[in-house]
Amino acid sequence: MKLISFANLDALNAALIERVSITAKQALARKGFFTFVLAGGNTPKGFYQALAQTPQDWQNWQLIYGDERYLPLNATERNHQMVLETFLANTTIPAKNHHIVPFTGHIEADATRYSEQITALLPVDFALLGIGEDGHTASLFPKHTEVNAIAHAVYQAPKPPATRISLSYTTLQQSQTLVYLSKGKDKLSVIQQGLADLAQGKTDLMPFCRVQAQNVTEIFYTE
Ligand code: 6PG
Repeated sequence: MKLISFANLDALNAALIERVSITAKQALARKGFFTFVLAGGNTPKGFYQALAQTPQDWQNWQLIYGDERYLPLNATERNHQMVLETFLANTTIPAKNHHIVPFTGHIEADATRYSEQITALLPVDFALLGIGEDGHTASLFPKHTEVNAIAHAVYQAPKPPATRISLSYTTLQQSQTLVYLSKGKDKLSVIQQGLADLAQGKTDLMPFCRVQAQNVTEIFYTE
């Protein structure tokens, strides 16, 4: 896992756009579609807005979520609402390629349904994930038990809302490329601690350290 620091968010976003664009073109040439895991939270907003302005073969981009807050579909706190506003509204990605996490009020059934919905799109080509102050990523939180599923329900999440649906460690670890997008000094200390834990061969790792992709795992960081 490699830490790459950037002078500012614009420089980071430009490098991330290049990395995603290259990976997308390779996936499209290889299998005709590009499976892209979208990060939630606040940090990716500027990246999504900038990415939407670039020329891509949008018709064959398949978007899935690393995690989703388990709220009604029209809740503004949902990650997919943020993506609609900052990214999808400015691209020609077909709505059928935007795989949002369902909400019926029955979280276990919705997690199963999401797993079934995205199975044919796996393995992930490019996973974009955030890192929380406690070292969580997606909705995989410290001290939570790992679940053997493609996507699963998450309860008692320390970051509100308490209930979420997340891709599993296994699903994310099977990604070809994974980039963590992280901004702010409070995140740098968590990142440095995680990299030290990895270097020392510790086994009790923070979630973001436990998710490493098959080919490339990088942390794109800026203050
Ligand atoms: C969420 C995200 C979560 C997020 C990190 C970083 O639902 O909030 O999936 O994993 O990526 O907490 O969030 P920020 O980018 O807002 O710091």
